[in-house]
Amino acid sequence: MIVAERLVKEFRLAERKPGLLGSLSTLLTRRHRVVRAVDDVSFEIPAGTKTAYIGANGAGKSTTIKMLTGIMTPTSGRCTVAGLEPYRNRQRNARTIGVVFGQRSQLWWDLSVPDSFRILRRVYDIPEPVYRRNLDLFRELLDIDALGSTPVRQLSLGQRMRAEIAASLLHDPAVLFWDEPTIGLDMVLKDAVRHLVNRAHRELGTTVVLTSHDIADIAAICDSALVVDHGRVVHQGTLKDLLRTADHRSVVFDHRDGTAAGTVRARVETGLPGVRATPDDGGRIRVDYPAGRYTSRQVLTFLLDHFDLADWYAPEPGLEDVLRRIYGRARVPGDTPDGTGRTPDGTGRTPDGAA
Ligand SMILES: Nc1ncnc2c1ncn2[C@@H]1O[C@H](COP(=O)(O)OP(=O)(O)OP(=O)(O)O)[C@@H](O)[C@H]1O
Ligand SMILES: [Mg+2]
Repeated sequence: MIVAERLVKEFRLAERKPGLLGSLSTLLTRRHRVVRAVDDVSFEIPAGTKTAYIGANGAGKSTTIKMLTGIMTPTSGRCTVAGLEPYRNRQRNARTIGVVFGQRSQLWWDLSVPDSFRILRRVYDIPEPVYRRNLDLFRELLDIDALGSTPVRQLSLGQRMRAEIAASLLHDPAVLFWDEPTIGLDMVLKDAVRHLVNRAHRELGTTVVLTSHDIADIAAICDSALVVDHGRVVHQGTLKDLLRTADHRSVVFDHRDGTAAGTVRARVETGLPGVRATPDDGGRIRVDYPAGRYTSRQVLTFLLDHFDLADWYAPEPGLEDVLRRIYGRARVPGDTPDGTGRTPDGTGRTPDGAA
């Protein structure tokens, strides 16, 4: 359904020097720095999946989505959505896709929401029953009527996002590209938005590509994950597979020994080097162990041998922990796309003006 083949997007940025003389020399020499926002990215997203496009700030998610929605042309490589290259077929592609960019409005700034919808209805040639059905749904779940005849530019962020979400779903698109669709929304509206997208997926088989820094959005919506790091894909598969890459696992237990928490902790951490034991407020102890070093059986056997266990459970590794590790690994000084701070010539400088 969605294919990216060796997709690259580079931006040339004018190197600015401080001060007046600096500005003059910037004008005269026109030195450029190249930022490779998307670096040789290939992936396939099958129809009917709900994929989280995950990556730290600046990883290249929005830039990729801009190419997939036809807003930007790749520097090299290509991508297709339902067989079309979006940047070559913007009009036809627009009928297939629904787009939300939380950071940038897709609506007409000076028009009210009802006027925008009327235009979209004509642009997409939406059949009357579909238009009615969707509008009723948005009235009920997104309280669209409350936005009245206010021009979009005067709406609050949350109000505008309600309109953006509705506009992206209005024509029953086959693919939804939602880039941070829940920023500014309160909990109730976030739930409504999650419900809407899951409903579209269930009833129409909509393919969904979602970016969100709210992990709860990802957990509530997505079944698959595509993780990018400094412009490169570092994981593609199901969300479950991603969770299995967690390098730490946990066991939480309760005991009847009456041993002080500090003693329990010391006994666990001494007996199982490399393991962390953390007492919680309810008297339980959480044991975090490196998955490569211990099996759950080893950890549990140790606990059964040393304590009179009242209860225990093994919580699922959290997406947050997995992502913290992926994001954290790449945080090194320097601005080069491979995250090493080194350029091919090893100087840390990017070649001037090379695009
Ligand atoms: N129009 C542009 N001109 C120059 N550089 C750009 C432009 N758009 C993006 N970049 C750069 O490309 C890189 C990737 O940006 P992008 O917006 O795709 O990241 P992102 O993964 O969406 O991040 P975030 O989570 O913060 O939204 C960043 O280093 C950014 O500064
Ligand atoms: Mg972004």
